[in-house]
Amino acid sequence: MATRVALVGAGGIGGYHFDQLRKYIGEHPGTVELVGVADVAEERAAELARRAGCAAYTSHVEMYEREKPQAIFVGIPPFAHNDQETAAAERGIHIFVQKPPAVTLAKAREIEAVIARSGVISAVGFQDRYLDVVDEARQALAGKRVGLAMGYWMGGMPGVPWWRVRAQSGGQAVEQTIHIFDTARYLFGEAETVTGAATAGLMTEVPNYDVDDASAMTIHFANGVLCTIFSACYLRGAPGKAGLDVYGQDLRVEYSLRSRVRISRRGETREVEHRNDNDLDCVRTFLEAVQSGDRSAIRSPYADAVKSLELPLAGHASVDSGRVVQLG
Ligand SMILES: NC(=O)c1ccc[n+]([C@@H]2O[C@H](COP(=O)([O-])OP(=O)(O)OC[C@H]3O[C@@H](n4cnc5c(N)ncnc54)[C@H](O)[C@@H]3O)[C@@H](O)[C@H]2O)c1
Repeated sequence: MATRVALVGAGGIGGYHFDQLRKYIGEHPGTVELVGVADVAEERAAELARRAGCAAYTSHVEMYEREKPQAIFVGIPPFAHNDQETAAAERGIHIFVQKPPAVTLAKAREIEAVIARSGVISAVGFQDRYLDVVDEARQALAGKRVGLAMGYWMGGMPGVPWWRVRAQSGGQAVEQTIHIFDTARYLFGEAETVTGAATAGLMTEVPNYDVDDASAMTIHFANGVLCTIFSACYLRGAPGKAGLDVYGQDLRVEYSLRSRVRISRRGETREVEHRNDNDLDCVRTFLEAVQSGDRSAIRSPYADAVKSLELPLAGHASVDSGRVVQLG
């Protein structure tokens, strides 16, 4: 029997969830049925539901009650996470949710606790964990002592209106650079402290803008790695750059976001281009876990993603207090 799947959020990433599901159904006909789309914006729900050939709702709870989905894909702005996940978990509905899992740690931990109690399967849209080139970086670094790493997401400001408001998006470190924080955790393990600095003043003419233009957050990992992650959202025309450079004693690993990894050792350099469809692999892993009941292949369950959210939020707390923030 086909797994009944519904979408919560029909904006940019809602369309992406639909496209990934269509790809999956194309590969595995009859295994997944799209049964509903919910969005607080009625016309957005209606438009995506029309494309998907299913029912549209403005209330996710009504959709859960009527359509009885077995799994949902949640793609809503960070501040909008309220009971979309908890109401699903309480009904035994499995949850795929976009990063960042929330805009505050308190909200993310509240959702995490309900998901844990319910036993439903969860996955967060950290699709970079499924990149072939991130696997290459992990293999190259396995067992190696690393001193320093530098991560960066230097870009412009996304156009959606909620993005420029810190209380709604969390700002660049939380909203986009979180992919780099998550990759750093995937490579180096858990962190002990975070220290942050931030600057603003370049984006004076953008209405309602109260996020930092740029920040630098230094993470001390328990294994000794010192990693500074830079975030910028003020570029306009200047070419952006995102990735993570890692320095061991006899090894340098340079990961360019979603494109390649360059591994240099004692005069020899190997460059590997990204080839796999990691977006689909991320979605496929969740769907197959729902179908089989075996969640062991999911690389970013909800509780793990909350730990990645903790890093940039600790960085902001450090910026605000001027102190080093201890984790755990
Ligand atoms: N994994 C990735 O690489 C990736 C890429 C893009 C976006 N995202 C994430 O997806 C999320 C959404 O981003 P987006 O670009 O789709 O934003 P968007 O503004 O394009 O769409 C958000 C949609 O959510 C709807 N919405 C708001 N509150 C809602 C609620 N309470 N219930 C149901 N729907 C609600 C809005 O009406 C809108 O249609 C963000 O957390 C973003 O970080 C992830």
